[in-house]
Amino acid sequence: MPRAACWPCVPAPEPGDSAMSALKHEDLDRPVTIGAEAYISEDYVRAERDRLWRRVWLQAGRVEEIPEVGSHITYEILDDSVVIIRTAADRIQAFHNVCTHRGRRLVDTPAGAHHACGNRKALVCPFHGWTFNLQGDCTHIRDREDWQDQLTPENTRLAGVKLDTWGGWIWINLDPDCVPLREYLEPAASMLDPFQLENMRVRWRRWVVFDCNWKVAAEAFNEIYHVDVTHPEFKQFGEFRGWARSQGLHSNIGYDAPKNVDANQQAKLRIGTGDARLSTAQMQNFTWTQVNTNTTQTLVDAANRLADELPEGTPPGEVLMHWLKSAREADAARGVVWPTIDPAHVGRSGTAWQIFPSFQIGHAVNNALCYNFKPHGYNPNQCIFEVAVYELFPKGAEPKTEWEYTPVGDPRWRTVLPQDFSNMAAVQQGMKSAGFRGTQPNPYRERAIANLHLNLARYMGTGAPRLLKG
Ligand code: FES
Ligand SMILES: [Fe+2]
Repeated sequence: MPRAACWPCVPAPEPGDSAMSALKHEDLDRPVTIGAEAYISEDYVRAERDRLWRRVWLQAGRVEEIPEVGSHITYEILDDSVVIIRTAADRIQAFHNVCTHRGRRLVDTPAGAHHACGNRKALVCPFHGWTFNLQGDCTHIRDREDWQDQLTPENTRLAGVKLDTWGGWIWINLDPDCVPLREYLEPAASMLDPFQLENMRVRWRRWVVFDCNWKVAAEAFNEIYHVDVTHPEFKQFGEFRGWARSQGLHSNIGYDAPKNVDANQQAKLRIGTGDARLSTAQMQNFTWTQVNTNTTQTLVDAANRLADELPEGTPPGEVLMHWLKSAREADAARGVVWPTIDPAHVGRSGTAWQIFPSFQIGHAVNNALCYNFKPHGYNPNQCIFEVAVYELFPKGAEPKTEWEYTPVGDPRWRTVLPQDFSNMAAVQQGMKSAGFRGTQPNPYRERAIANLHLNLARYMGTGAPRLLKG
């Protein structure tokens, strides 16, 4: 297959090009349909390695995971493994995790581990002992003279991988000719910068293998349309209706503003309906205990004080303002300073961004919920799912966390996320049915799905959404 050009220099589809949709991002407010190939085809998943994963910026870990010179982590995707090392106090570098002698992986990931990590002064290959310094130069070769002076710094040094940081994450790109990270991430980077995600630290992180394609899993979390039916308990707290927008290569989603609440305040930190003082507290306690995401102990405590601090009949908008002010002050008193962000910006930013192709940032002013999706080998019916929950901690009180493999059914997932999990394999199976004609995402509430496939098609050369004809 020809190598497709890298975003954003992807050629516009030619009219009549059978492989590419003539649709543009601005067309995605119209109903579309998407074929099942991208979800179920073995050929497609094999092509993804070269056409997609080796050409996009990939979120590969957090900066704080490698605090000291020599600290390193590995990142694995399909056939590629990358070692990411802090090579100086202010520098992080990435190399293909492969010895230049005969190709052995330099750093092994322990069986069952999410990735390898540690601290070393040099990378020593376990096979014949070729040694590389942190900058990737080969510094020791046994019996070097046997190569008759033909081993040079160039043909022995480790192959570098493009690396940059944003939002506190380390990003890598296997394409040496890729666009700069910042350019790739826009407009998400500018919209999310005010949330100062780089100051947040992980509260918990888990991973698991699902029996579905990574797109099925990603699309279970990039829309709010499913909440009423998949998570019926949330109905008691009000309507969960949301929008989804194409943002070029990326997309974002957010809640429609509830009645009586300024659209600018429609942050992820939602209030409940009815007596907003009580329903907000109920929803916060439910979320904290049953999902353990999207909120913090400070927000829960502040919500529990609302009934004491506000009179009955306080309008919902005022309840929201008071709750956030009270929580902000409580956090400030313990040294946790939330960023101050223009409410209009908070409203526009929505509740989550889908970073192409498979990272989702659910941002808020004092916490974040992030999902990452990766293929699991070349099986189109499996994927790796990663969840990390972040929040602002007082300096020195950040918890030390590890990626915990947590199988479906493990009580540590609590009750709400398993409701999402229950759709994964069922969707994958359904898509393989001879009777399935393709997905028909909601043009307003599930536009992130159409946007993903429009962009995927530009990398993959196949699978573009088509207008749905009634
Ligand atoms: S393969 Fe690494 S030293 Fe031989
Ligand atoms: Fe859900």
